[in-house]
Amino acid sequence: MRRYAVDGPVALEGTIPISGAKNGALKLMAASLLVPEEVVIERVPNITDVHLMGEVLERLGAKVSFGDGTVTIDASGDLSEETPYDLVTKMRASIQVLGPLLARLGRARVAMPGGDAIGSRPIDLHLQGLERMGAKFTSQHGYVEGVAHRLRAADVLLEFPSVGATENLIMGAVLAEGRTTIENAAREPEIQDLAAFLNAAGARIEGAGTPFISIEGVRELGPVRHPIIPDRVESGSYAIAAAATRGDVRLTDTRPEFFELPLQKLEQAGAEVDRGDGEVRVRMKGRPQSLDLSTLPFPGFPTDLQPPMMVLLAQADGSSIVTENVFEARFLFVDELNRMGCQIRVEGHHAVIRGIDRLSGAPVRAPDIRAGAALVVGGLCAEGRTEVYDTGHIERGYESFVEKLNGAGANVALLDD
Ligand code: EPZ
Repeated sequence: MRRYAVDGPVALEGTIPISGAKNGALKLMAASLLVPEEVVIERVPNITDVHLMGEVLERLGAKVSFGDGTVTIDASGDLSEETPYDLVTKMRASIQVLGPLLARLGRARVAMPGGDAIGSRPIDLHLQGLERMGAKFTSQHGYVEGVAHRLRAADVLLEFPSVGATENLIMGAVLAEGRTTIENAAREPEIQDLAAFLNAAGARIEGAGTPFISIEGVRELGPVRHPIIPDRVESGSYAIAAAATRGDVRLTDTRPEFFELPLQKLEQAGAEVDRGDGEVRVRMKGRPQSLDLSTLPFPGFPTDLQPPMMVLLAQADGSSIVTENVFEARFLFVDELNRMGCQIRVEGHHAVIRGIDRLSGAPVRAPDIRAGAALVVGGLCAEGRTEVYDTGHIERGYESFVEKLNGAGANVALLDD
């Protein structure tokens, strides 16, 4: 069975280069379906999810080729409208082809993603927004089918600033007739990057990165070459790992402003943080201080960094309260952490964490990408050996995970027997 064997405790020390953003790459790849010419995306991380999105695009009829850190997508030929269940079930971000397919073909048939290890994850906001733009949806046999002769501009007010819904609506609106507005839009940096990519291809999007986005439809998009922004979740994961292991790590090729709140929380916990141009250094001496935090949409504390932060707080001097406001099942991995000696009690969407001095290595199972990475960080902090099973989740989202950690002094081995 594939697993990571982590020998601890170890203080991470050294330099870790940050890759292009997974959640940016996936959306830019989906958006390439809107462009009937060649698209080149640079700084693409070599991770499973990106290859799965490549498969989705190929099944839809695009030509996809991966180069050294790039992906070239040519969606100039005839496209199919169907994204099958076998791919959507492996990666729910496949749902992001809905907006582009409706805009380009006027129809789409996409398997309903269902829930996953972090929550129930409905897509009602995606569908309601696209309906306001004239799409009609029916749902049967596990598929959602949408038809729209030509999407038309609309004013959409989102009930919640959903990242995926905001992106599907932007992609639906770029070729629609007239001016679409999205109010209460998600503000994540990946949304700004999606807009920058589409604008470079000839779209007219304003306000991305603010809660109010306006999109003036254009008739057609043209060829584009675009580098992806640095991965703020990968950056935050290693920044927290540096502090949790009481180490000293310099992250390069990143943008500290994309994960400012996590950095402030690390300072509150007692870490020294130096922000530079495209880099950040995190140092921690001694035990972290306890603190409280709540996850929220950007620029709030990201839900994707809640799991590694729990590992840091599990060793804090005092008790902390973490409130998860975005995904209801994101505390499920706490039982695994408690197998490592942590004292965490979950009550609804709050977790009460009583700090202990040292975690104790144990076999644990990674339920999803971020909790998986957090369990490895737990292993780095723990006395003895930790074995993290189901490593496939981690490989979905972290490029060269083992190499980057070992390059900073960790002792992590991939075992496969
Ligand atoms: C994106 O998921 C990311 N995934 C997630 O990262 C990230 O955790 C999340 O945004 C929040 O930052 C990708 O970008 C591929 P949402 P997304 O729509 O778009 C509810 C990772 O590990 N909601 O903002 O699915 C939903 O249930 C992943 O990299 C509805 O109710 O997130 C949730 O409670 C995991 N109806 C909340 O909104 C909808 O139609 C936020 O979801 C849509 C969402």
